[in-house]
Amino acid sequence: MVLDHDRSRILLAGFMGCGKSITGMRLAARLSIDFVDLDERISSLAGMSIAQIFSEQGEHAFREIETEALKSLPNQIVCALGGGTFMRPENRDWILKESWVIYLRVGVQELVRRLIEDATVRPLLHDDEGMPLPVAKMIMRVRHLLQEREPVYIQAHQTLDVGGITPETAAEKCQEAYTKRNVLR
Ligand code: S3P
Repeated sequence: MVLDHDRSRILLAGFMGCGKSITGMRLAARLSIDFVDLDERISSLAGMSIAQIFSEQGEHAFREIETEALKSLPNQIVCALGGGTFMRPENRDWILKESWVIYLRVGVQELVRRLIEDATVRPLLHDDEGMPLPVAKMIMRVRHLLQEREPVYIQAHQTLDVGGITPETAAEKCQEAYTKRNVLR
């Protein structure tokens, strides 16, 4: 499907574990366009995993590669951003200008539940040995980061509450919001 309008880069923002990738894949299938996961793009640009980039080169290097990966996204794409991508002002300016971005919002408790069940190694939620944080610390970390990030995430073109709904329903609602979008910032 060729989306014949200006904003055919459709980006999904939100906290780690909110379902950006699975929802993005479903959304791309619904629109018949390609899907890309920004973290995977970063890994292939760097030739190593996200965890390795953090441990060998540090977060700053990771953020630099993330910006490069973001800005080289093609048109006609659905992309799941990383949880921190929208936080960097340079990225945010580009995203708001060059794409349509939707924030997938999930509350702290559900996020923690999903993150505990997920085997992905996320440096911000693991200790220096690469072990997942104990639950109490994880809750504190997620709560703290989310408090910091929420006011920024809601600057997306659209916010969608996805707590308690399936990825397919979330994708359907994203599609609806995208089709109806009228306020372009
Ligand atoms: C990060 C989220 C991760 C990944 C990196 C940093 C963040 O992506 O980009 O570990 O700052 O929130 P997911 O949101 O896909 O887990």
